[in-house]
Amino acid sequence: MRLSLRFVLPLLLVLAGIAYAVAPLVDQLTLRWFVRDLEIRAELIANTIREPLQEQLAAGKKAKVEDFFNHLTQDERVYAVGYCAAPAGTVLASRWLPAQISCANLDQWEGPGDHLLPIAQGPLHVAVKPMVSEATPAGRLIVVHDMSFVNRRSEETKRYLFYAFLGLAAVVSLITVVVAQLSWRGWMAGMRSLLRGEGLLRQPALDAPPDLPGFKPIARDLQRLIHELEAETRARDESQITWTPEALRTILHGELRGEDVIVVANREPYIHQRRGERIEVQRPASGLVTALEPIMRACSGTWIAHGSGSADREVVDKNDCVKVPPDNPAYQIRRVWLTAEEEAGYYYGFANEGLWPLCHIAHVRPIFRSSDWAQYVAVNRKFAKAVVSEAKTKNPIVLVQDYHFALLPKMIRDELPDATIITFWHIPWPNPESFAICPWREEILAGMLGSSIMGFHTQFHCNNFVDTVDRFLEARVDRASFNVSFGGKPTAVRHYPISIAWPPDASLMEKSVPECRSSIRQMNDLPPEHKFGIGVDRLDYTKGILERFRAIERLLELNPDWVGRFTFVQIAAPTRSGIEEYQHHESQVRAMATRINGRFSRHGPPPIILKIEHHESSQVYEYFRAADLCFVSSLHDGMNLVAKEFVAARDDERGVLILSEFTGAARELPEALIVNPYDADQCAAALHLALTMSATEQRDRMRLMRGLVAEYNVFRWAGRMLLDAAAKRRRSWLADKPEIPTV
Ligand code: F6P
Repeated sequence: MRLSLRFVLPLLLVLAGIAYAVAPLVDQLTLRWFVRDLEIRAELIANTIREPLQEQLAAGKKAKVEDFFNHLTQDERVYAVGYCAAPAGTVLASRWLPAQISCANLDQWEGPGDHLLPIAQGPLHVAVKPMVSEATPAGRLIVVHDMSFVNRRSEETKRYLFYAFLGLAAVVSLITVVVAQLSWRGWMAGMRSLLRGEGLLRQPALDAPPDLPGFKPIARDLQRLIHELEAETRARDESQITWTPEALRTILHGELRGEDVIVVANREPYIHQRRGERIEVQRPASGLVTALEPIMRACSGTWIAHGSGSADREVVDKNDCVKVPPDNPAYQIRRVWLTAEEEAGYYYGFANEGLWPLCHIAHVRPIFRSSDWAQYVAVNRKFAKAVVSEAKTKNPIVLVQDYHFALLPKMIRDELPDATIITFWHIPWPNPESFAICPWREEILAGMLGSSIMGFHTQFHCNNFVDTVDRFLEARVDRASFNVSFGGKPTAVRHYPISIAWPPDASLMEKSVPECRSSIRQMNDLPPEHKFGIGVDRLDYTKGILERFRAIERLLELNPDWVGRFTFVQIAAPTRSGIEEYQHHESQVRAMATRINGRFSRHGPPPIILKIEHHESSQVYEYFRAADLCFVSSLHDGMNLVAKEFVAARDDERGVLILSEFTGAARELPEALIVNPYDADQCAAALHLALTMSATEQRDRMRLMRGLVAEYNVFRWAGRMLLDAAAKRRRSWLADKPEIPTV
């Protein structure tokens, strides 16, 4: 209000000043108009009375003439009338003819000019008109008009003018105040939104004026502009962010305003196992857990997972929750219990005998059973219920992980339509022809499209997914923006290359590289200068362990000098051992290692040391730090975090990474020796090259790879998804506004 007054008062003063300056002009103007009117009036009177006046003059009736003139002055404006026969004569006049007028001085009232005569009662106008006849060729009529009415009119005009300006000032002030108030509120709301990091048009102020259809196209253009600005700002900001747990927390609390995060993943990050009297906490061998656990430590929230440990039920509270990590709780695990039938059908069956081989092109036939599908649907529904019960708001942020939960996004969406659901598919997505063999392909795609954002490791997998949707669903696919709209719900398809925490946990790097080299060699009965390579995987047929062994065999065939001087340690964590294909794979791996060792163990240590057992991260890092090379030979892998962990472990900038071209990691780490695992000769050559590579070249390659893993760490992976989720939330608020009417 004070602001409005500060604006209105000067405005009123300015308008008053204008009125004051204009008033004299009004006086002059009205006077000129009236003088002209009176001249015309006098002319009219002269013409009208000419004949009767001359008759009376000719008859010599002076008294009659004066009566006639008096009669004329009854008109309220005619003040006096007079007649002069000659300049030297006396004036014949009505009453009131001013004494200043005489026949001798009539010249001054003729011709151009205002002809005003001021007297005490007000100004008079004097007009002199010729009134000639044969007898009086110099006769002149004098008509005097009272001009006081002009003054009255002028005063009135000025008064009207004053009121008009006053009214105008009031109207202008009112409009100005209203517009100023509205713009101020809009501006303040916009500023507040901007300070909160939102777009200007996020939400209308509650007291904002109703939407005007005419302004909608402008609003739409503005929205588009803001989106572009936001994208630019984000790109610029992202490049400036140092991706740490702290940065992630800031995004969560700032961009998403402190929302809790709910993660849903089949595998739990901490498994409680009963070992006799004791309960042991185990960390599973899982890239997913490696990536997500630091995120949950940073963000807190709830991780919903299958409670698979033998002592899991013993440690949970009444809501089936347990706080973790056990030594320093930062978030909670909500455990979902599955029956043996559910686990068999959903996990071993549909997920790992069906979808797993379907998505990995590893030449193992997928098996699809309708009984497995039924369990898969039922377990997805069970997890959807758990999500709904854990959600503290109606629009939580839910991070759905992996191929175990393809149906979950839609199930959550049905219950919580406003949830922001980010689904990440940790394994590859095949081309439409390969995917077509799944009997429930439409249901799976529809389930996934319940997500707000559908994430893959690489753009290649995004392309395959969008092609598959386009082939099998009635969906609108925008290939320019990689957005899919199915059933009126939009899903953004994006690639987010997963990674590991950086820097790695200090406890993993405590032991120096020379210490690791010597302890690992001692532990495996290898001489101090013995060359050794490392492989760390789940014992899974997609990891290309058989192909790796074949490459080692080929190296020894082609370069027999390495026999007895080089050993490859393969750590293989048992996995999915309930599945026949995995049992078969394990026996194949064991057999091949035995065969190759039998062939090349005559002189010294064996070429392959196979360790099929679970190893803790600290032990794995010790191997990484001790090794001359690390060999990752996956036949198909979404990302493969072992490659990145090896790079992270080598703060001495030594060691060589040999990496399959069929991993997502190969796209990010081109300084590795990139190989085709199916080509044994090429892999053998890479092994030889790695074993003979100079320290300088090792350092140059390792330094570049470490730089990339440091920059593109797992906090960036999660941060980018959360930033996109925040932007999507803002957009959906805008999209909820009424449609622009068509004209
Ligand atoms: O790579 C796919 C994946 O599900 C990962 O996400 C996870 O790290 C790994 O497999 C572990 O598999 P499982 O939980 O079946 O042992």
